[in-house]
Amino acid sequence: MLIPQVASQNFSPAGHFVFDRKSAPSCYFPAESLNDFWQGEFERLGMTLSPDSNAQIVFIFAEDLPPEGYEIEVAESRISFRCRDSRAAVWAWQTFLQLLPPAVALAFATDPVEIPAQKIVDAPRYAYRGLHLDVCRHFFTLDEIKKILNAMAMHKLNVFHWHLTDDQGWRLEIQKYPRLTTIGAQRAASPKMWQRTILDGTPYGPFFYTQAQAREIVAYAKARGITVIPEIELPGHAQAALAAYPEFGCTGGPYTPWCHWGISEEVYCPGNDDTLHFLKNVLNEVMDVFDSEIIHIGGDECLKTRWAQCPKCQARMTAENLKSVEELQSWFVTQIGKHIRSKNRQMMGWDEILEGGLPPDAIVMSWQGTKGGLAAIAQKHPVVMTPNTALYFDYGQAPQASEPESIGGSVPLETVYQFHVDCECPAEDAQRYILGAQANCWSEYFFDATRLEYAIFPRLAALAEITWADPKIRHFPAFCERLKPFLIRYKLTGVNYRPLEETL
Ligand code: ACM
Ligand code: ZN
Repeated sequence: MLIPQVASQNFSPAGHFVFDRKSAPSCYFPAESLNDFWQGEFERLGMTLSPDSNAQIVFIFAEDLPPEGYEIEVAESRISFRCRDSRAAVWAWQTFLQLLPPAVALAFATDPVEIPAQKIVDAPRYAYRGLHLDVCRHFFTLDEIKKILNAMAMHKLNVFHWHLTDDQGWRLEIQKYPRLTTIGAQRAASPKMWQRTILDGTPYGPFFYTQAQAREIVAYAKARGITVIPEIELPGHAQAALAAYPEFGCTGGPYTPWCHWGISEEVYCPGNDDTLHFLKNVLNEVMDVFDSEIIHIGGDECLKTRWAQCPKCQARMTAENLKSVEELQSWFVTQIGKHIRSKNRQMMGWDEILEGGLPPDAIVMSWQGTKGGLAAIAQKHPVVMTPNTALYFDYGQAPQASEPESIGGSVPLETVYQFHVDCECPAEDAQRYILGAQANCWSEYFFDATRLEYAIFPRLAALAEITWADPKIRHFPAFCERLKPFLIRYKLTGVNYRPLEETL
């Protein structure tokens, strides 16, 4: 009953290990990788740390395993974990917890458990297994994000993509530009629930994360095997930033953080050298706070009406011999990409960065179906698949009348589960260029964390399986059976989720 399904699980003909927290099982764990996460886990299960590598439960790091790979051997007297590294140890631990009844794993019960003797060998199919969260349309607190990170670790997901800036709010402190948060982190109103063309008249914010808080999330995630990729949107989805610094827009403003959902036509002016200077300074602070190799620069849905009329933009096009506003976008994103590369990081953008020419080195996040991803692969660029047709968790899970309000669309659990991350790509290209997949949570209709969790769970379990396990094992009814202990885990940890159809 494991999710994601492991590569192999072979039971011994007889024997079991008795896991009894009342006996305070001894555990050996490499000292250099111990942290608050591990201390908390061992304490929860009543285990005592031991310096003796002959303890009852033993963790060993072994470089001969594949990336993120691990093995678990359960014998009568010992459980041994062989793990590639500390991240793999987190995944091994999650599998071990699934060998226990949920109530015991989560310390709601203390009964001794007989774990059958067995050997598990496992490693993920894809290196990138992500969840995205928009904190601009609605904001989520550090505790709410930590709860999501805990759940991600439980599902062996290893990337948290944090969408920090948009038309409706700028959510990260930037020391050099304080108005981004004194002005950009609040808006005067939001669309009304169920009446999305009417504004509610209620001010929203100011809500943002200090750099210290963002670092806290980075460290918390890292201890759980998760990398945090920040997204700073450009050249579009910039109206909240322009409200703070109107000189970086084509018209010069004035602007206010946007109160509507949808796409604003107020975007950064690529004709102005100062705009580039501003964004590079912002990214310098972002790259100081976030240690991820990948930095996401957005790039989606940039309306180009202002550029077509802006004298500075027109002058830039002439000077750089750019034949269209699409080429102007590509030029602008390429400048940003060069800056990111100069700091030894790699730029990622939504699939619109293909327009006007793909910047060198860029990783493409394919959201308008899979066609952008396939086009990027044809140009030998790495890709992460996040198609709105299968992995948009802001889309509905059933007909709207029976569900909370959502942005629209239809992505039921089974649609997530049946998505093939390799798409129609030849195997060799897929292996080389498809880093993995991610689900996206745009938060227009996620007015609180309970609603957000309803959208994420249990679709996250399907995402876990399609990014980790061999697609040959896929069988939706069997997956739903394996999901049942997960639903108990969600309930015990206070995670809201959408019940399976049969239990609705
Ligand atoms: C997107 O959904 N606009 C990336
Ligand atoms: Zn302009």
